[in-house]
Amino acid sequence: MEIFGQLEFPGDKSLSHRAAILAAMAEGESTIENFLWAEDTLNTLRAMELLGCEVKKDEKRKKIYLNSPGIKGWKSPREKIDVGNSGTGARLLLGLLSGCEGLSARIDGDESLRKRPMGRVCEPLSLFGAQFTPKDFLPIEVHGRKLKDIAYREDLGSAQVKSALILAAIASSTRLYLEEVCPSRDHTENMLRFAGVGISKRPSEQGYVMEMHPPYALSPRNYHIWGDVSSAAFFVVLALLAERGELLIRNVLLNPYRSRYLDILKQMGGNIQILEQKERCGERGGDILVRPSSLRGITIEPKDIPSIIDELPILTIAGVFAEGNFSFRGAKELRVKESDRISALVQNLKALGVEVEEYPDGLSLEGQSTRILKGNVQSFMDHRIVMSFEIAQLKSKSNAKTNEELVKIEGRNWVNTSFPDFYEKLNYLLNPQKPLEDTMAVVTFDGPAGSGKSSLAKKVADKYAFYQIDSGAIYRALTYLALKHYQKSELSQEEKGQFFEFLERNPLILSFNGQRQQLLEQNGQLFGAELRSREVALHIKGIADDPDFRHYVNKLVRQAAEKFPVVVDGRDMGTVVFPEAPLKFFVTATLEVRARRRLAEMADQTISLSELMREIAERDRQDESRPYGSLKPAEDAIFLDTTHYDLDETFSIVEAYLRQCPSRALQIALNREGKPNEL
Ligand code: DC
Repeated sequence: MEIFGQLEFPGDKSLSHRAAILAAMAEGESTIENFLWAEDTLNTLRAMELLGCEVKKDEKRKKIYLNSPGIKGWKSPREKIDVGNSGTGARLLLGLLSGCEGLSARIDGDESLRKRPMGRVCEPLSLFGAQFTPKDFLPIEVHGRKLKDIAYREDLGSAQVKSALILAAIASSTRLYLEEVCPSRDHTENMLRFAGVGISKRPSEQGYVMEMHPPYALSPRNYHIWGDVSSAAFFVVLALLAERGELLIRNVLLNPYRSRYLDILKQMGGNIQILEQKERCGERGGDILVRPSSLRGITIEPKDIPSIIDELPILTIAGVFAEGNFSFRGAKELRVKESDRISALVQNLKALGVEVEEYPDGLSLEGQSTRILKGNVQSFMDHRIVMSFEIAQLKSKSNAKTNEELVKIEGRNWVNTSFPDFYEKLNYLLNPQKPLEDTMAVVTFDGPAGSGKSSLAKKVADKYAFYQIDSGAIYRALTYLALKHYQKSELSQEEKGQFFEFLERNPLILSFNGQRQQLLEQNGQLFGAELRSREVALHIKGIADDPDFRHYVNKLVRQAAEKFPVVVDGRDMGTVVFPEAPLKFFVTATLEVRARRRLAEMADQTISLSELMREIAERDRQDESRPYGSLKPAEDAIFLDTTHYDLDETFSIVEAYLRQCPSRALQIALNREGKPNEL
C-alpha cells in the first residue's frame, strides 16, 4: 500500500465552543476562523445570539463574525437555550450564566443530554451562591447572581467543571482559587489568556493550583481554530502501516492533552515528525509528517489513558500490526463511550481471528506486522470502531496483496455522525488527485536577517534546478548607488526624480549565472561584495521605506519569475510580490543566533557580537514597521524556526513541503508531477 498527500481537518470542537463563548464575553467584534460547522458548536453560537450578540456566518470560509455588547450588555434570552446534544455547551453555559447578575435563562438539551448529570457543575457552583432549578438534569433554569469568591478543590478531573467555575468567576467578577487534583484539558485557561485574562497556574503536589483576581477584561480577538488532531489519528496510523509514501498533516492542534497518542505511536517506533509549531488563539499547533514504519508493541501505562482515551481503538489496530505484545489497562471509562469500546474491539478482533485477552479495564494481544485479518465485524453504532476497522481492512488487503474486501464492516454509515468526509480523505490518500493547475512555479522565503532564508533558497535552487532571486541584493544595490551619488539614502523628491532618471538611462539588469544564481549588473558591471558592507546595511532604510523604490524592485523580481521556476528570498515576497505563490516559508531564529551567523560570515570581524545584535535588532524593527512591504508572515506561510536546527535538518522539512505541494507548475518544475521519485 502506498499513500501520499496532505490533509487538513475541520476545526477542533473544544476550541470552537470556547471561541464562541470567549468572543461573546468581550465587547466588540471578534472573528473565528476554521470554526467547526457542526450542530453542537452552532448551538453554542446560537446561544450567544440569544444573549444579545450579533453573529454573521460565512459557511464557505468557515468564518464567524461575532459582535458583542460585552457580558454587562447581555440580556435574558426570550426563548430557551437549546444546546442539543452538547454536554460541553450545557455545562459551560450553566457556569457562565450563573455568574451574570440579573440574567435568567432556561437551558435545555435533547433526550440523551437530558439524561446526563449536570449536578457535577451545579452543585459546586451552588456553594458560592449560584441558583439553579433543578440542579441535576436539564432542562434547568439558571438565575444569574453576584457570586461569592470561589475556592474549590476539583477532584473529578473534569475540564467542563473546571471551565464552568472559571467562567462563573469571570462573569461575576469574583476571585477564583481552584485546586486541580487530576489535571484535565487546559483549553479554557489557554484561550482566556489569549483573550487577555490573567490566570496564574502553578504545579501543586498532585496537580495544579489556579488563581484569578478581578477585574477581568476580555478583548475582542481573531480566534483561528486548529484542526482536530483526534480525527487525524486514523490517517496517522494508516500512514505508519503503509509500505511506501508519506502523509503531511497541516494545521492541527498539538496541545499535549490531545496529541499524546502521537508520543505513544512514536514509542512504538512510528516515524512521526513535528515540522512546524506555532501558537494560535493561545494553543500550540502545527504540521506533522508521517512515514511508513515498523511498529513494536507497547504496554500503555494507566496514567496515560485519560489523554488518549478517544484514540485507544485506533491505537489497538496499530498494536495488531505491531510486533510483540500490545496492551493497556486502567481504561474502564472506555466501556461507557458511544459503545462499550473494549468489548467492541475484543469481539471484532476475535471475529477476525486475533487472540485477545479482555480485562475489565483493558485488553492485551500479540501483534504481527504481516497479519491478514478476514471476517465480518460490527459497528456497535460507534464511528470510531468503524473507522479503526477500516484501517485494519486496508492493511490486511495490503498484506494479502489483494483488492478483495477481506474485512466486511456492518454499519459503515455511523462514520457520518462525526466525520462525513472520512472516506473521501482515505480515497484521496490512496489515489492522490491531479495537482492544481497554475502557472507560477515560485517558492518564497521571507524572514529577518540571518534567519537562514537565503541558504535554504540556495539549497532548493541547487537541488531542483530553480533560479534563485535575492531581492535584498537589489535594495542593497540601490542603497549603494544612492550613497555613491548623494552620500545618503534618504533622498529629497528632486533627488529621487534625478535618481530614477539615472536608473532609466542605466538600468539594473537581473540575470543568472550557470548555477542559476542571481547576477545584478549596471552598464555591464556586476555588483559584488560591495553590496554586503555594513555601510550599505546601515543605510537601507531610506530606500526600502520608499514605495517607489519598492515598486522598482518588485517589478524586476516578478519579470524574472515569469520565465523560470524561481526561489526568492526577502521580506515581503510571500505577502506583496508573489501573493499567489504556491509555497511560502517564513524563516526565523533568535536574535543571538542570527547575529552569530552573520558574524561568522563577515570578513572584517571588528564588530562585537553585542554591537551586531543591536544593529540587527534595529534592522528588524525597521523591517517590521515599514509602512509598505513590511516584514510579516503571509497568512498561508509555513513557519520554520531554525534556532535549534542546522541547515540540512531544516532543508529536509522544506523538501517535505515541496513534495506535498499541490501546485502543478511547481511539481513540473520539481520534475515529479505530484509524485515523489523516492522517499
Ligand atoms: O536580505 P538582506 O539582508 O540582504 O536585505 C537587506 C535589506 O533590504 C533588508 O534589511 C530590508 C530590505 N529588503 C526589503 O525591504 N524587502 C525585501 N524583500 C528584501 C530586502
